[in-house]
Amino acid sequence: MDVVVVYETHFGQTREIAAHIADGARETGAAAVVVAVDHATREQVDGADLLVVGGPTHVRGMSRPWSRERLHAQELGTHGEIAAGVREWLAGLPAASAGKHAAAFDTRLPSALAGGAARGVAHGLREHGFSLVAAPEGFLVEEADGPLREGEPARARAWGAQLVTALADAQR
Ligand SMILES: Cc1cc2nc3c(=O)[nH]c(=O)nc-3n(C[C@H](O)[C@H](O)[C@H](O)COP(=O)(O)O)c2cc1C
Repeated sequence: MDVVVVYETHFGQTREIAAHIADGARETGAAAVVVAVDHATREQVDGADLLVVGGPTHVRGMSRPWSRERLHAQELGTHGEIAAGVREWLAGLPAASAGKHAAAFDTRLPSALAGGAARGVAHGLREHGFSLVAAPEGFLVEEADGPLREGEPARARAWGAQLVTALADAQR
C-alpha cells in the first residue's frame, strides 16, 4: 500500500506530525512518503492508495493567505513563504478517481477555543471524491511555534498505523 502524507507547516510542527504518521504507516508494512504541500505533485496524489493531508490551525480553521502573510510579516515563520496552504492546494486538486481513500489532520493549541483545520481538510477531500478512512484528527502543540505536546508523536504514529489497518479492512 502506498501512503502519501501532504503537510503545510510554518514552524515545523505539522511536518513533524506528518513524519510520525508516515512512520506509523510504515510499521504496518505500507510504503509512505512525506511531502510539503507546495511540492506535492499530481502523480504522487494519483499514485497514493491513501492520501493523508494536514496543516496547522489558523484562526480556528485552515490557514488563509492573510494568516500566513501575518506570520511572515512578523518574521515568525521559520520555513519561508508558502504561496499556497492546504486550503488552496485542495481547491486545485482534481477529482479523485473512484475508490480513492484519504484522511485529514491538523496541529492546534490545547485550548477549548482552538477550533481545528482538520475538519475543513476532510471536507475538501470528500468534495474531491475521496472516502475518509478515519475521523479528522488534531495533534497538540504547547505554543504556536511548538513544541509538540508530550505523547503526541507516539499518538501520531499510532494514528498512521490505524489508517493503514482501517483501509486494509475496508478493502477486504
Ligand atoms: C496566525 C495564527 C493563527 C492561529 N490560530 C490558531 C487557532 O485559532 N487555534 C489553534 O489551536 N491554534 C492557532 N494557532 C497556532 C497554530 O495552530 C500553531 O502555530 C501550529 O499548530 C503550528 O504548526 P506549524 O509549525 O506546522 O506551523 C495560530 C497560529 C497562527 C500563526
